[in-house]
Amino acid sequence: MDYINKIFLGDCEDVLKTLPDNSVDLIFTSPPYADQRRNTYGGINPDEYVAWFLPKAKQFLRVLKPSGTFVLNIKERVVNGERHTYVIELIVEMRKQGWFWTEEFMWHKKNSYPGKWPNRFRDNWERLIQFNKTKKFNMYQDAVMVPVGDWAKERLAKLSQTDQTRDESKVGSGFGKNVSNWLGRDLVYPNNVIHMATECYNRNHSAAFPIELPKWFIKLFTQPGDLVLDPFVGSGTTAVAAIELARKYCGIDISPEYVEISRDRIGETQIRLPIIAEHQASFQTNKSLKSLSQEEQ
Ligand SMILES: C[S@@+](CC[C@H](N)C(=O)[O-])C[C@H]1O[C@@H](n2cnc3c(N)ncnc32)[C@H](O)[C@@H]1O
Repeated sequence: MDYINKIFLGDCEDVLKTLPDNSVDLIFTSPPYADQRRNTYGGINPDEYVAWFLPKAKQFLRVLKPSGTFVLNIKERVVNGERHTYVIELIVEMRKQGWFWTEEFMWHKKNSYPGKWPNRFRDNWERLIQFNKTKKFNMYQDAVMVPVGDWAKERLAKLSQTDQTRDESKVGSGFGKNVSNWLGRDLVYPNNVIHMATECYNRNHSAAFPIELPKWFIKLFTQPGDLVLDPFVGSGTTAVAAIELARKYCGIDISPEYVEISRDRIGETQIRLPIIAEHQASFQTNKSLKSLSQEEQ
């Protein structure tokens, strides 16, 4: 079956059974939330969420390459005044299924507005849970480096004795550091908290994530030409992100309406692609010109 650069209509579990083993480089997805959006695209009872998800995760495990990564955007909902445990149970069950639970990223939603609830504050973050098939997976950390920031000027100006040697974590986390390694650098590696605004209004989908979210993970875990799968593709955000970054995509959604929206968005993106490429090229040229003139100074 030809599954490259396609959006499929159907249940992802069924569609994925037609894909070959070890064929996908990155799975990035946000599945339907437990019961939350019953009016828009159905919901799964929180008590049944793990049983619903596991057979799909089995297919994800089969189609993912050993060097690939699965990133799951999810957040447990509140049921009867407490956080439901289905996400935690899912992680435990997926480990039994053969997944390696490598990391958890936090997406901090930068643009949230205030609210008042009797027993909790506004929910301002979501989980991005990283699973792998093995401990050795592809990761291109340099692709997501960030500017060092102002803290560095002050912090690096006064290096203590400890800062000049490797300082092992005092709580035994294994995260040692040598601050002096970062002297004179413009870019550093980010941490596992991603600060990104939600898309306040997406006419395409009530639960779309901002395109910069899949883009960040696509850059981190794939290279141009690699295949990115979103088995709950909704309005096609992951597929559009993949195209804009010159990766291949495969998307699946159970809703005919969303499949149509995805295909339309992809069509529009492909038309815009030469403009995007031109913009990126001019940005890169400007950047290299800038760094050249900085080097000359
Ligand atoms: C949270 S939304 C994804 C939104 C998407 N990230 C975006 O940016 O538009 C989840 C999607 O999963 C789809 N869905 C629900 N059950 C599914 C299934 N069994 N197989 C495939 N898609 C499914 C829904 O139709 C919905 O569009």
